[in-house]
Amino acid sequence: MKICTILGTRPEIIKLSPLIPLLDKEFEHVLVHTGQHYDYNMDGVFFEELGLRKPDYLLGVGSASHAQQIAQMMIKIEEILLQEKPDAVIVFADPNTPLAGALVATKLSIPLIHLEAGCRSFNRKMPEEINRIVCDHCADLLLAPDEKAKQNLLCEGVSPEGIIIVGSTALEASIRNFHYAKSNKIMEKLGLSRGKFVIATLHRAENTTNLKILQELLEAIGEIASQIKLIFPLHPRTKKIIEENNLNISSFVTVIPPLSYLEMLNLLENCFFIVSDSGGLQEEAAALNTPCLILRNETEWTYLLDLEKNMLLGTNKLKIISVAQDFIRHPEKIETMKNIRLFLNTNTSQKIVEAIHGYFKR
Ligand code: UD1
Repeated sequence: MKICTILGTRPEIIKLSPLIPLLDKEFEHVLVHTGQHYDYNMDGVFFEELGLRKPDYLLGVGSASHAQQIAQMMIKIEEILLQEKPDAVIVFADPNTPLAGALVATKLSIPLIHLEAGCRSFNRKMPEEINRIVCDHCADLLLAPDEKAKQNLLCEGVSPEGIIIVGSTALEASIRNFHYAKSNKIMEKLGLSRGKFVIATLHRAENTTNLKILQELLEAIGEIASQIKLIFPLHPRTKKIIEENNLNISSFVTVIPPLSYLEMLNLLENCFFIVSDSGGLQEEAAALNTPCLILRNETEWTYLLDLEKNMLLGTNKLKIISVAQDFIRHPEKIETMKNIRLFLNTNTSQKIVEAIHGYFKR
């Protein structure tokens, strides 16, 4: 059986890292990288750190408007799929890359396997929400992280035969890769002490394209930084918007370039808490027992809210500052969140491979 996996962004590379070697072993496996992310610290560093083999195809699509980016990807992916004729295509989650891959595979009648299927924020203004809905509705095999995601798919009329729960790829990747991250020297490099700093990250379109929201969030981050050391790895999208609009970042904030994956895992495990609008970091933080205060109004990972391991803060400056201040004054509250136990799965990739074999045997 020939399988083609299509990836293109930082979270896809990280969360697919345990699966790619298994697919190489089990199938004739073609790996396609669209180049949606292309800076070394958004792309190459992850391949290096995680010892991943080079993609078979590098499409070099880069940044553009969504229509141009997705169109470029589709044209190039179509050429490859026509040439390689895979028996199935795998796409992961919700960036523009999986959307492009899903549309092309479906148009060519190639079976589509969608990983991280069924996650919903129920906010249709997020580009990712539209992307994942389309991917799910194009897919023949939908591999969901949990029962909730499965229920979301059933509510949308997806046939139950195509849905299999395999667990979380993010939790699996974090646990598997943390032992490589332990010896990372990033704490020394940044002069940090365990538990004495927080991390902030910000890159979501809905938080960065609305300047009023971005300004509020930057002010909240600045205020937290005046009370505890705060490390802010700046995503290129956010950097560009801040520079173009002359927005101010408080001088208390330690702004650094995007971190490598192992650096981030190391800091995540050592920090007091993280404030972030990232989807992936919510689960990575939970895997490493660090509370994540989410700078969004909704999240796909509600199981972590239900467990009270993470907290949904929204984007109101005063609310964010007051919650963060409360934790800084009462560290025992962070300890309570850390002590909540989380079931950690470590065999998601194996289950994905079994589900694919099962699909072909049908
Ligand atoms: C994308 C995904 C998002 C994911 C995120 C992780 C979509 C719609 N969104 O958002 O789900 O959480 O990746 O980072 O696909 N840029 C660079 N260098 C790079 C990559 C991006 O400078 O290597 C800059 C460019 O100015 C670009 C902007 O960042 O226009 C946005 O990049 P893009 O890939 O379009 O979306 P992300 O915000 O990264």
